Amino acid sequence: MIQGIEIVGLGRQLPALRVTNQEIAEMTDTSDEWIRTRSGIQSRYFCRDGETQADLAAGAAEKALADAGIKPDEVGMCIVATATPEYVTPSTAALVQKNLGLPEDIPAFDLNAACTGFIYGLQLACSMLYAGALRHPYVLLIGAERLSGVIDPAERSTYVLFGDGAGAAVIRASELRRFFCRLGVRGDDAVLYGPTHEKPDPYLHMNGRAVFRFATEAISSGIALLEEESGVKAAEVEYIVCHQANQRIIEHVQKRLKLPREKFFINLHEYGNTSAASIPLALAEMKESELLVPGTRLFLLGFGGGLTKGAAYVEF
Ligand code: UT7
Repeated sequence: MIQGIEIVGLGRQLPALRVTNQEIAEMTDTSDEWIRTRSGIQSRYFCRDGETQADLAAGAAEKALADAGIKPDEVGMCIVATATPEYVTPSTAALVQKNLGLPEDIPAFDLNAACTGFIYGLQLACSMLYAGALRHPYVLLIGAERLSGVIDPAERSTYVLFGDGAGAAVIRASELRRFFCRLGVRGDDAVLYGPTHEKPDPYLHMNGRAVFRFATEAISSGIALLEEESGVKAAEVEYIVCHQANQRIIEHVQKRLKLPREKFFINLHEYGNTSAASIPLALAEMKESELLVPGTRLFLLGFGGGLTKGAAYVEF
């Protein structure tokens, strides 16, 4: 028996405020040209005027439930992948339970695997669905971030890259759709870290070049693992969706593996790096553009703080 999953609904939510590179250049020592050529990013969205990370999570989740055509009381587990939760406690997942009126007899919790959080969540969703541990048949998996709260305008190498947003997926068990997933971590608190209580230091810090190297290696090795496990070659899947951090990272892998540029879905030019939200945000946008139809096969690749990495093969 295949123990696969089906993504039956997708949704996304962005803050109201869109910030262009030009506007970023008025706040920190940079230029539109530098940001575009080094990252491919042209704009990002920032929460303002009381908009919260939990609002983004609930907004994306509501749309994903509507897209799936299911009611809140059919949700058996709620996971919010995030590195920027609203509070240390309660979890954002608890706030979503309250906001959407999800059942009280379900597990709901936050998961921090930074930018790889959505892929970690897919593996957990699949495992819990087949463990028979859930009282209702659907898992609500959300990636939601408010990175604008942890970036320092004085640190231009991070400030220009990140944005806020949320994406959500409704998932159920499927014996028709195959699913493979590989997760990993290389513990490191020097390359990408923060904020911390110790100093106290409210900001995120990053050695961009070291992350770049880790990312290209994580994506290339993740693709090789998925090819081996699924028996499907990267050249055969309809799309490869990488964590949307930097266009140069994606192009580097695309060239190294000699794959066509069109196979890689990219939307980072509009949203910047939204960490755990980036992959579900991409999937929701792909579905809206009718790129995800029954039979579509995807490789999903994540990497980020931790340093975490993850690779998943998903069939629509
Ligand atoms: O979710 C995972 C999150 N992280 C990532 O994915 C990051 C991966 N890494 C990257 O995306 C790239 O390494 C960056 C975009 C962060 C940086 O690009 P780079 O080509 O590796 O630049 P660099 O750090 O080597 O810096 C080159 C120059 C430096 O000046 P000098 O020393 O050559 O004079 C920096 O000071 O660019 C300067 N610089 C900037 N200049 C204008 C750094 N940030 C900026 C900036 N505007 N925002």
